[in-house]
Amino acid sequence: MKGVILAGGLGTRLYPLTKITNKHLLPVYDRPMIYYPIQCLVNAGIKDIMVVTGGRKSGDFLSLLGNGKDFGLKHFNYTYQEGEGGIAEALGLAAHWAAGEKICVVLGDNIIQGNIKRAAEDFERQQRGAKIMLKEVHDPERFGVAEIKDGKVVSIVEKPKQPKTNLAVIGIYMYDPRVFDIIKTLRPSDRGELEITDVNNWFIKDGSMTYEVLQGWWTDAGTFESLHRSACLIADGGANLMELPAAKK
Ligand code: DAU
Repeated sequence: MKGVILAGGLGTRLYPLTKITNKHLLPVYDRPMIYYPIQCLVNAGIKDIMVVTGGRKSGDFLSLLGNGKDFGLKHFNYTYQEGEGGIAEALGLAAHWAAGEKICVVLGDNIIQGNIKRAAEDFERQQRGAKIMLKEVHDPERFGVAEIKDGKVVSIVEKPKQPKTNLAVIGIYMYDPRVFDIIKTLRPSDRGELEITDVNNWFIKDGSMTYEVLQGWWTDAGTFESLHRSACLIADGGANLMELPAAKK
């Protein structure tokens, strides 16, 4: 399975921090935000990775990450999203590179404490379809929210005003190669974006969506409050992170 990290968008919720740089290059405690989703994929054993960048300072990703040596990788693939057409649009840019393989997508501002290795292995064995990861939260109205019946996800609503559950769909998604054909059929939502929730609801209707509830903490880092919380969670320890390379003198 290949990995895709989505690090486009303009990060307007973090303005003015994002006035001159890309959100995913901002620090979260002792390392840039983009390090965490990369670590998530590497910990899961996924080494063939594409980073979708965009917005401001996208060239800085290359200076920062290079070929991925700091993560024990030999190569990174990069592509560029013009504008902010949504998570599904950004993912669609990886279609030619995915070349018919299953993919694991991680949003560039999502940070987890634990490891998704077992879920990724389960999905490798799943014949077709998709897998999402869920987490109980106190503020579900900020996220895609899943409804479960008889052990199956029956619907996902994006940022509902009155959430039916407190189960947030976190920004880690696994898909079979049909995902790229589905993206081509999407229409922009009211906020003008191609929504990943529409992709996920397609797989639910297809009857091929599975889910897992994530162990350990999860947070996004796309608002001032969640960026601060992320740094505190990392500082408190317990996340499985590589040692940082020593600074060059
Ligand atoms: O964090 C999980 C949530 O992420 C999910 O529960 C929601 O269902 C999902 O829609 C998403 O919600 P957000 O509104 O928080 O997503 P946001 O616009 O902040 O984008 C998250 C990441 O996706 C961002 O860090 C970079 C990437 N992205 C986003 C957009 C809009 C792109 O690469 N390109 C884009 O055009």
